[in-house]
Amino acid sequence: MGVLPAARNHWPDAKCAKAFWSQQEVRPYRRLLADTLDWCSPAAGERWLDLGCGSGPLTRGLWERSNGAVAEVVGLDCAAVNERAYAALRADLTPGRADRVRFVCHDFSGGLGPLPDRSFDHAVSGLSITYAESYSEAEGRWTAAAYDRILAEVFRVLKPGGRFVFSANVPEPAWWRVAAGSLGALVGSGRPLRFLKRSGRMLKYGAWLKREARAGRFHYLPAAEVTAKLAAAGFAAVGHRLSYSGQAFVFRAVKPAA
Ligand SMILES: C[S@@+](CC[C@H](N)C(=O)[O-])C[C@H]1O[C@@H](n2cnc3c(N)ncnc32)[C@H](O)[C@@H]1O
Repeated sequence: MGVLPAARNHWPDAKCAKAFWSQQEVRPYRRLLADTLDWCSPAAGERWLDLGCGSGPLTRGLWERSNGAVAEVVGLDCAAVNERAYAALRADLTPGRADRVRFVCHDFSGGLGPLPDRSFDHAVSGLSITYAESYSEAEGRWTAAAYDRILAEVFRVLKPGGRFVFSANVPEPAWWRVAAGSLGALVGSGRPLRFLKRSGRMLKYGAWLKREARAGRFHYLPAAEVTAKLAAAGFAAVGHRLSYSGQAFVFRAVKPAA
């Protein structure tokens, strides 16, 4: 089982990573962020994992909502350029003590290898785990093995009682609905040209993502299918809601205490 060599993955590219940095400025994404963080409800002393963290909007949210009282937030992503974004984030966090916010560059399609069992109280992920990819040479097709593996891996690294809160795009997402809800950000943006350039790139990458999801490489799945996968990985108390102008679900699930 491996990744088809000819199938380029844009996520590790700095250009792709940076295109998604502007996402944080738009209203549908702000809503998604708030809905996700509401279910995270971070508390003092907790260790959090932020999977596919990008530039760290959820990491920042966990920090700010706990008033800097979380023990640690580890952001993990395959794009090395996000280390730079985390350096800026650390310098900017309020309250300080940003040595408790870390970035790990890692491709989660093969699992969470470097992270020990039961090492996090809770985990969060924003529109990311759907991009776990695996190609079966034997079957000559993309499979869901890496997606199933990442769910099992999150289960492994969580402590009993730990919550997993994550967002995932709906099947066949209508990006134009997100774009329509984002127009205010263009007007309000201090740098409209940079905003437009990044938004254009994001739409281009959006077309690539939808194409690959149709091919079975990425996983924009119905909520019932994700719920079944979470249950198969061992999670309980699974729930979901719609957000992101109707283009993403937010899921919550718990690793049973016993
Ligand atoms: C749509 S962006 C979301 C970023 C961030 N969570 C946010 O809410 O702004 C998806 C993120 O998943 C990361 N990603 C995609 N595939 C990955 C993989 N196989 N391993 C680790 N990170 C991955 C990308 O690099 C990107 O930062």
